[in-house]
Amino acid sequence: MLTSKRILLIIGGGIAAYKSLDLIRRLRERGVAVSPVLTRAAEEFVTPLSVSALSGEMVHRDLFDLTAEAEMGHIQLSRSADLVVVAPATADLMGKMAAGLANDLASTLLMATDTPVLIAPAMNVRMWEHPSTQRNMATLAGDGIRFVGPNSGDMACGEYGPGRMSEPLEIVAAIDAALGGGPLAGKRVLVTSGPTHEPIDPVRYIANRSSGAQGAAVARALAALGAHVVFVTGPASVPPPQGVEVVRVENAREMDEAVSAALPVDAGIFAAAVADWRVATASDRKLKKTRDGLPTLEFAENPDILKRISQMAEGRPSLVVGFAAETDNVLEHATAKRARKGCDWIVANDVSPATGIMGGAENAVTLITADGAEAWPRMGKDAVATQLAGRVAAALAERG
Ligand code: CTP
Repeated sequence: MLTSKRILLIIGGGIAAYKSLDLIRRLRERGVAVSPVLTRAAEEFVTPLSVSALSGEMVHRDLFDLTAEAEMGHIQLSRSADLVVVAPATADLMGKMAAGLANDLASTLLMATDTPVLIAPAMNVRMWEHPSTQRNMATLAGDGIRFVGPNSGDMACGEYGPGRMSEPLEIVAAIDAALGGGPLAGKRVLVTSGPTHEPIDPVRYIANRSSGAQGAAVARALAALGAHVVFVTGPASVPPPQGVEVVRVENAREMDEAVSAALPVDAGIFAAAVADWRVATASDRKLKKTRDGLPTLEFAENPDILKRISQMAEGRPSLVVGFAAETDNVLEHATAKRARKGCDWIVANDVSPATGIMGGAENAVTLITADGAEAWPRMGKDAVATQLAGRVAAALAERG
């Protein structure tokens, strides 16, 4: 899908601009023509000379550049590509896009274009989490802007968290997907994520420590490869990724129903930390302290969603992947779990408190398949997700 395509690449002014040089190289290697646009601030980080040398094209910098206007007006430039890519998309550029400002070449092109736009945000974690950026992101998503990233990790400013620009190859994959390509184009994939909340009464519930970070990262990585992702999420503490179909649920039974409604799918990735039990005697009124002593909660077993889908007689997804969060004998328990549930793969991890994995940014997983166990090195949850999505794409391609 990439060969012979043209990308209008707007490079914003952030430290991640250095990665856009590599992005240009990666695109050129794949036969993509790149028309580069630099903002004023971007020129503080990368030079027009290096951008033009790598792209082999003239760099567009100024809205009022009469030569360029004589050769190609900004309206025409904005429409000359198959896709407009903004990398890095700074908080400032996102703000301009969301507000409809057009006071320089980049923002004018973004307003004048009738071409799909993909942005790769990059900024300090506080700036990314600031309510104004989150508001702008929601506005842009509503306007049909596609996103790739940001990833979580160490930042150039020394802080840690979401805000790092996606790696050039991830952006290439997202460009491919935005152009209708990608190894998972045309595939429908279900991802469950987050904890479930099982009510005790209208104000209390039983939950677990899952943040939903790994599930969200998996969904983002699958979407970046071109999949249509149905993301069924419990009340997670991290927001769902952009570009996926989000179905929000509260408890295990709702999740079970939402999963049924999402079928048929080519693959199902069950990353949710579903509560095994619910309170059978959940009250529809708030429990009060009484003189009769402490309340007694009775439990009932929740539907095992992964097992049910793995063992479907008809219409089973070609690939069913479960997660196993264990605190001891990880390999042994996870291998037994794969057999018991009937899923194809289990992504096993050690969530004992000392690992800091539950609710943390990193994960150390072992992939258990019919061929045995494969231990992956400890890495960021985004990197685990990217690797897993690649494996899912390869497996679906094999299964036809
Ligand atoms: N799972 C599910 N529905 C449930 C419970 C779990 O779909 N009611 C899925 C999870 O999403 C995960 C996998 O099953 O992919 C493993 O969950 P886990 O809770 O570790 O498995 P259990 O069956 O509870 O096994 P155990 O109690 O032995 O840990």
